[in-house]
Order: sequence, then C-alpha cells, then structure tokens
Amino acid sequence: MTSKKAFEASDKKIWLFTMIAAHITLLLGLYQWLLGRYGIFSYVKPEGVSMMKDPYLRFFQMEHPVSMILAILLITLGYGMAKKNVDDQIKYKKAFRYFVLALVLILAAVPWPFRELVARPWFPGM
Ligand code: HEM
Repeated sequence: MTSKKAFEASDKKIWLFTMIAAHITLLLGLYQWLLGRYGIFSYVKPEGVSMMKDPYLRFFQMEHPVSMILAILLITLGYGMAKKNVDDQIKYKKAFRYFVLALVLILAAVPWPFRELVARPWFPGM
C-alpha cells in the first residue's frame, strides 16, 4: 500500500485467488449452516432450548456464519477494487482496508481451541 508500486496482473491474480478461496469456504459453510450437525434445518433443538439463549448454538448458528459472510463480502469488495478504474494507490489503499477488516472478522469468529464454550480442537479426530 505504501510502496507506490504499480498494480499488475499478478496482483489481480492474488486477489482473485483470495476471493475464490473465500467463496469456496462460503459454499462449504452454507452447507454446514443449513444441513450440518448444527444446521438450522437439520439440528433438532432439545425441548426448551432457545438458539439465542444458548451460547454454543448462538455461535454456530448465528455469530460465526454472519461474521464469516460479512468477511467474505468484504473480500469480494476488496477484489472488486482490482477492476475499478481508479489510481493504483487508491486501489491498494481501499483493498487493504477491505482485506484487513475481513481478516479481523475471520480471526474473531473462528472457534479457536483456546476459546471458551465454542472451542474446537486444532486437529479434529486426533
Ligand atoms: C472464512 C470463512 C470461514 C472460516 C475460516 C470458518 C472456519 C470454521 C471452523 C474452524 C469451524 C470448526 C470446524 C471443526 O473443527 O469442527 C467451522 C465450523 C462451522 N462453520 Fe465455518 N468458517 C467459515 C465460513 C463459514 C460460513 C460462511 C458459514 C455459514 C454460512 C459457516 C458455518 C459453520 C458452521 C455451521 C460450523 C459448525 C459445523 C459443525 O460443527 O457441524 N462457516 N468454521
């Protein structure tokens, strides 16, 4: 962003790769969200349990998916800057903001092994 470098085809390719990776994750996530173990259509809540009042369910059915969808939207906007007809420095500056915001959201919404309540192991199944 600060190097005043010209925007090249190779930069566009990296941004495109980032967007494709994010969209593949979106498809996998959507499948889990709708039909997975805790999917909104497949998981049968025990009697008296409310999704919003249960921190575990709220995380996997609401906080995680919504944050990740927002992050993927930001990545898409970041990639969109590659196609905008603006000065290269503005391209880098705006895309940097979109990508950093997306990264912050992703890091905040991952069920890290050190998180309380929603933790998932580093190597599931081991
Ligand atoms: C950058 C994007 C994403 C990342 C890095 C990510 C990461 C993760 C991780 C690490 C897990 C725990 C897997 C495990 O060890 O058991 C998980 C689970 C899950 N994710 Fe995502 N996710 C992303 C996007 C999404 C999206 C977009 C959705 C929904 C639209 C979603 C829905 C879910 C659901 C429902 C689970 C729980 C699955 C289960 O336990 O059966 N994720 N995600």
